[in-house]
Order: sequence, then C-alpha cells, then structure tokens
Amino acid sequence: MLQTSFIAVHENCCQYAIGAVVTNVANIIVTGRNANALREAKTQFPKIRTFQNDVSNPSEIEQLYEDVTEQFPELNIIINNAGIMRLIDLRDATLNLENINSEIATNLSGTVQMVHQFLPHLLTKKSAAIVNVSSGIA
Ligand SMILES: NC(=O)c1ccc[n+]([C@@H]2O[C@H](COP(=O)([O-])OP(=O)(O)OC[C@H]3O[C@@H](n4cnc5c(N)ncnc54)[C@H](OP(=O)(O)O)[C@@H]3O)[C@@H](O)[C@H]2O)c1
Repeated sequence: MLQTSFIAVHENCCQYAIGAVVTNVANIIVTGRNANALREAKTQFPKIRTFQNDVSNPSEIEQLYEDVTEQFPELNIIINNAGIMRLIDLRDATLNLENINSEIATNLSGTVQMVHQFLPHLLTKKSAAIVNVSSGIA
C-alpha cells in the first residue's frame, strides 16, 4: 500500500483528493483557516485529517509542521493552494487599506514559508513533491 500523504492547503482541494481517499492509497491532510469549512470537508470525506491553519501566519505554519510531521512522518507531498484575490477600487476614498498586504502574506509569503518549513523534511524522502497553485500576484 502506498503511504503518500498530502497537505492540501485549503479544504477546496478535497475534490482532487477524493479518488485517493476512496481507494485507500493515500493519507489526505487538509488544512485551512476556517473551522466550519474544515468540519464540512470532514463530513463529506470522513477519511481525511484536518488541521486548522492560517498560512499568512508564520507561527501557525511552524505549529502545523510540528503537528503534521509528528502524526504523519511519512508525509511526502504538499500542495500550496490557499490564495485570495480582492478587487480593490483605489478611487474609493473610504477604503480601509490597513490589510493591504494580506494577498502578499497569503499568496506569496505563505507559500514561500510553507516550502521553507517543509522542504528539509521532504528532502529526507525517496520521492517527494511540492505543488504550488499560483496566482498573478504570487
Ligand atoms: N479561480 C481562478 O481563476 C484562479 C486563477 C489563478 C490562480 N488561482 C489560484 O488558485 C488557488 C485556488 O483558488 P480558487 O479560485 O479555488 O479560490 P478559492 O475557492 O477562494 O480557494 C482559495 C482558498 O484559500 C483559502 N485561504 C485564503 N486565505 C487563506 C489563509 N491565509 N490560510 C489558509 N487558507 C486560506 C480560502 O479559504 P477561506 O477564505 O474560507 O479561509 C479558500 O478556500 C489560489 O491560490 C488562487 O490564487 C485561481
């Protein structure tokens, strides 16, 4: 039996993971910042494991790494899929730009930090992969 684990950064990756879950060839780990969405994913696909995690927060990525590699030391694939894209109208004078860097923190820095955190672990595996679902901003 193959023991391939995935971290699918956000729950909408479930659709792509379902085939592997159903045939028991992989452990699927789904992460996301939204607890309700993770619960829904777990209801739909009971065999997945879920971890709540905000990829824009470096300390949460560190914690995710600790938890996942302790429970799934065989982890050999991560899929970085979390992303946001807002349409911001700079003509709107009332706009609050306090969180203007949130796209960068998630789409770019989050992906780089995930790779930096997990790469040493993946390099210990005979076969491993990182899949980055990109965006214009990243
Ligand atoms: N759809 C397109 O046309 C398109 C085009 C180019 C690239 N992409 C890329 O494809 C990927 C998936 O996009 P999609 O269209 O499927 O959008 P989506 O349905 O909005 O999926 C992105 C997921 O990322 C999650 N997310 C956002 N910020 C996060 C964070 N800080 N930590 C953890 N999870 C976070 C969101 O969940 P919550 O907000 O519920 O937490 C959301 O479920 C993204 O990386 C996007 O940039 C999409």
